[in-house]
Amino acid sequence: MPETVKLVYQGKTYELPVVEGTMGERAIDIGALRSSTGLITFDPGYVSTGSCKSRITFLDGERGVLYYRGIPIEQLAEKSNFIETAFLLIYGRLPEKAEMDYFNYHVIHHSMVHESIKKFYDGFPNNSHPMAVCSSVIGSLATFYQDQLSVRDEREIEIAIHRLMAKLPTIAAYSYKKSIGQPFPYPDNTMGYTSNFLKMMFSTPCEPYHVEPIAAKALDILLILHADHEQNCSTSTVRLVGSTMCNLYASISAGIYALWGPLHGGANQSVIEMLQTIYDDGGNVQKYMDKAKDPNDSFRLMGFGHRVYKNFDPRSKIIKKLADEVLLELGVREPLLELALELEEIALKDSYFLEKKLYPNVDFYSGIIYKALNIPVNMFPVMFAMGRLPGWIAQWKEFQEDPEFKLGRPRQIYIGDTRRNYVPMEKRKNQTPERD
Ligand code: SDX
Repeated sequence: MPETVKLVYQGKTYELPVVEGTMGERAIDIGALRSSTGLITFDPGYVSTGSCKSRITFLDGERGVLYYRGIPIEQLAEKSNFIETAFLLIYGRLPEKAEMDYFNYHVIHHSMVHESIKKFYDGFPNNSHPMAVCSSVIGSLATFYQDQLSVRDEREIEIAIHRLMAKLPTIAAYSYKKSIGQPFPYPDNTMGYTSNFLKMMFSTPCEPYHVEPIAAKALDILLILHADHEQNCSTSTVRLVGSTMCNLYASISAGIYALWGPLHGGANQSVIEMLQTIYDDGGNVQKYMDKAKDPNDSFRLMGFGHRVYKNFDPRSKIIKKLADEVLLELGVREPLLELALELEEIALKDSYFLEKKLYPNVDFYSGIIYKALNIPVNMFPVMFAMGRLPGWIAQWKEFQEDPEFKLGRPRQIYIGDTRRNYVPMEKRKNQTPERD
């Protein structure tokens, strides 16, 4: 007999079923709440609200645990690669050799964009934020493949998956090349995913370009660590857009815009900008800690805190260690890393941060590595989007295949004016609203 909870309301008792996940999470199924009680729930920011059942990612915020399809993130970062992890997220299992070769082949052989797409970049201002460029150009893919936008045809969805995985690095690199007025290089299908991206970002037609192996490896690990994170804001956006049966290109374009915000994927850019501000202000960390704790100051410690993790974000632990390796191997001395380490040390001894369980999140150290790879700061959220792409795809696909698939349409509690009549213009001066 499934567990239930009792709700007593206006003298009546209602029993609501409890659903339990495979890792012991429990939820009250309120699907019948409004029809049986007339009540809805109210939960700004969906702090205590689950939107779906999913098999893709499990995270335990209290224990700082993150699994992709049951595999701990630590093992994938150490033993897998980004394209294999993308396959795992999207198709639910680690690929066999033939499956891996097939997926890899198609991700590589869709890396070019239609030549007409390059003309879009002529219209963007040179100082356009690359997240706006990437979301616009990704969305425009729906105009190039108009006869392949099905959300139910397995083969059309597979081709869209290959195209998105293959073309986002190209589209991203072109947004950077546009901003510095350099020519757009073609992808090089003889190279790996991250090496090809770095070459498109930094090569010029004037000379050969060598990709540092540590740079390609570090970027591959970063993409793995960013690949999915259950129902975060941008993933929920992708699911919501997909719930209208809208195509995958448009759903991913919406996800890129949602990720851009500084409270979400844009935080990696804000962290570096914050560290640079503190550094330029003489490195006075305590001053900015005090600002972060001051309820009257809007300043927040970017890269700290998380809606779910109330312990260390397991990803930030791996990234912090990787940052040390990358800087050492590239022979880069990064004063902002020292500042970040000092800031973390002070914060983790501070009662405000400890009481509110604010720990470094995925965005706190990632920018240090991107900076060491000479990736411009405004491209940091784009790197997050490249990593999160397979997660968005996996979540969108899972939802399209979900037997409980339903158009997403939240309710609200109305607190506006009660019924009142229209007031002709001549009577509006200093009027108080007429009310019935
Ligand atoms: C990502 O959801 C995901 O999974 C996201 C992500 C993913 O992989 O998809 O993990 C990626 O987005 C990571 C988060 C990146 N954002 C930042 O680093 C921005 C800085 N962090 C905060 O803005 C904040 O911590 C959030 C937005 C991340 C989470 O905020 P919540 O869950 O809405 O919590 P809250 O804002 O209500 O904060 C709780 C309290 C508040 O104090 P009180 O009002 O209770 O007094 O903690 C305080 C906040 O003021 N607080 C901070 C703080 N974060 C929260 N105070 C100072 N500095 C901070 N960074």
